[in-house]
Order: sequence, then structure tokens, then C-alpha cells
Amino acid sequence: MDFQARLEALTHQLRPWAPLWSRSILQGWPASGAAYPQAWLAYARSLDDAGERALDQGVLVGSPPPDLGALLSVLEELTALPCHEGLHSLSVAEAQGLSTKKAHELERVLSLLERRAHFIRGAVDIGGGMGHLARLCSRTFGWTFHSIDRDAELQDKGRRRLERTHPSGGDSLCFIQASVEDGLQPQLDALFSGRERASIGLHTCGPLALTQLRKSQGAGFVLNIGCCYDKLEMPRDYPVSRFGKEHPLPFTPHALALMTRGRHHKTEVEFARMKRVYAWRFAFDLLSRRCFPERGFVRAGDAPRGLYAGGFSIYARDRLARLGLDSSMTDAELDAFEVSVRAETRDLLLCHLLRDRFARALEVVLVLDRGLLLEESGFLVECLQLFEARLSPRNLALIASRSD
Ligand SMILES: C[S@@+](CC[C@H](N)C(=O)[O-])C[C@H]1O[C@@H](n2cnc3c(N)ncnc32)[C@H](O)[C@@H]1O
Repeated sequence: MDFQARLEALTHQLRPWAPLWSRSILQGWPASGAAYPQAWLAYARSLDDAGERALDQGVLVGSPPPDLGALLSVLEELTALPCHEGLHSLSVAEAQGLSTKKAHELERVLSLLERRAHFIRGAVDIGGGMGHLARLCSRTFGWTFHSIDRDAELQDKGRRRLERTHPSGGDSLCFIQASVEDGLQPQLDALFSGRERASIGLHTCGPLALTQLRKSQGAGFVLNIGCCYDKLEMPRDYPVSRFGKEHPLPFTPHALALMTRGRHHKTEVEFARMKRVYAWRFAFDLLSRRCFPERGFVRAGDAPRGLYAGGFSIYARDRLARLGLDSSMTDAELDAFEVSVRAETRDLLLCHLLRDRFARALEVVLVLDRGLLLEESGFLVECLQLFEARLSPRNLALIASRSD
């Protein structure tokens, strides 16, 4: 794939819509709604529940505005990436104690390494957690493996598991408790260097991904999958490549949060649940603006699931109490308020469905910029979708090997 052409084309499409994707809808409401073309909103308002759900999956039913249809299809084309479909099946014993998500990720990573990293003899895993990948790689490929993490507790759990299941596994696997930072760390840095060494980062959160890429200049093979983009700091962490700097997008904390959330295709039940959560949150926001204008934007926070199952008044009472506020409204008045703002809360929902359409494209821009950083330092780089989105939504992998 031509990373430069893809990044340039995506930024060209995304830049004009920055007022829409770079701001929070709720915090800036109602002014934030002005970024959404009237024709898009009119179309979204015309949708029934099935149409809204289709929009949530990127499908436009009926007669969408031509510019919206054209934009979504070009973004779909530009975010399409090859998928790695192979699986290295884990045995029952190997998968014991792993979540379905973790087992899926490990099966895909092992299968990828099996095919691409046959020249590798040793590896380092940055942010290796309990060392699942290290344990499986050293057993499957016979590599020596260093698993680095700053969380001593996680590593202890991993060590105990290793002692229980592979008493002799400690020979080739070494846990190192350390915080990996940019800048010189001679003892750690040596682990990232060597043509027969792989540098692996499976869900390196926030800037840890960039630390990995910078430390891996001397590695023979690099695999990076990022996550938690909302932990990045702008402009320090994006753009990082020379080419990216010539084609920057105005990433904000709100844009980073948009690309961080999971966005798989929802079942009918999941979609209905999401709509209810949004409806209660938005109505609560409108209520707090009306009753407590001096407080500005009030963060309702995550509520226990059960609170969304009952009426709005139950939810609102709980949130008001948590925030130490008293609206002096009866339950009947709270419920009537929610009904009175339904047209507005629906508009808020529709804006969110439209804004979500930009999330993957923004994520791909961020990852391409990281890929270009590797290319610019002489690596041959690929970008693949490694995991199934439903199981693991942060699924974009950068795979790099030395071209000389
Ligand atoms: C999202 S978890 C991924 C864990 C593991 N790779 C996995 O896939 O299960 C990120 C891990 O990185 C570790 N971590 C974050 N920043 C770090 C740093 N600067 N140095 C070392 N470890 C770090 C955290 O403690 C955490 O275990």
C-alpha cells in the first residue's frame, strides 16, 4: 500500500469536516449542531429505527443526500485494509484463563508471526502485561523472549501461571519490570536491537506505541498495535512522520476520544440499549442546563446498567444525587421533562451517528502517520486489520521489517 497517497487522500477528505469531528456534540450543544449540514440532519430525521441502525453501520437507506453518500463511500474505500485471516489455534490448556478477546488476539498474532517472522530468534514485548504472548511465543517458536511491563502485579501473576503450567518455561522467558520511556535506557534499549530480534507491542496504549517505534530502529521485525488514543498529547504525538507533518489534521482530545471507542456492528438489542443510554444522558444534560445554568457542562458519568432500564426520573435522581444537586422536581415532572425534549435528544443522537462515521478514517490517519515514521527510517511497512472488530476493535496492526 502507498502510505503517502492514502494519508494524503484521507486528510483531503477529512479536513473540511474538522468542525464536525473535532468537537464534542454535547458540550458544544446547540452551537455544535451547526457543523452538520441541514440536508444530512433532515435525512437522518426521516429514518425509522432500522434506518438509524443501518446508519450506525455506515449504510444509508432510502434517498440520502448525494454528498453524504459520496463521502461515506470514499471513506470506506480509503479505510479498507487487507485482513489477516489466519489463526494459530490455542490448545485448551494454552487458552485457559484467557478471555475470548485475548484468545482471539493471541491466535491471530501467533499466526501472523508464524508466517512473517521465521528469521527471528528473540523478541521483546513492550507493555507485555501478564506475558501471555511471551509465554506462547517462546513455547511455539522457541524464541527467547523479554516481556517488559511497569505493572509488577501483572507480571507476578504471569510468573505464577508460568511456574504452574511450564515449570521449565523460565529458561527462555524473562519478565522485566520497568517503565519504558523515550530517551536512553541502555539496558532496555539493547533488547530492541538486532536483525534477528522482533519488537512487539500488542495494544500499546497512547504514547507507548510511539516509544516502541522509536526504540525499535535496530530491530529486524516490528509489530505494533496501538490503543487508548485518548492518552495521546497533541501536538507531541501526532503527526510524527515528516510526510504527516506536511498533511496534518487538527486532532483534538474530542477527536482522539472519537477514534478510541469501540464501534462494532451492534445487534438490535445492543443498538436499542445504546439509544436508551444516549437518550437519558442527553435529556439529563438539557435538564442540568435548564436547572443549573451556572454549572455549565455537567458530566453525568457512567451509570450502572440497571439505571437505564427504568424511567428517566430514576436515572436523573441518581445522577443529581451523585452530583449533589437538587432540581426540586417530582418524578412525574422529571419524566415529563424528558418527553418534552425528545425531538432535541433525537437530534443529538443523529449527530452522534453521523459523527461516528468519521472515527475509523481518523484512526487510519493516525496509524498511517506511524507507519510513515517507520518507512522514513528505512523499514518496509504493511498495515493490516489483524482482529475481528466485534472481538477487538483496536485491530490495526503495523508490521515492519528492514528493507536492506
Ligand atoms: C493495554 S495493556 C496491554 C497488555 C498486553 N500487551 C495485552 O495485550 O494483554 C498495556 C500495558 O502496557 C503497560 N504499560 C503502559 N505504559 C508503559 C510503560 N511506559 N512502560 C512499561 N509498561 C507500560 C501497562 O501496565 C499495561 O500492562
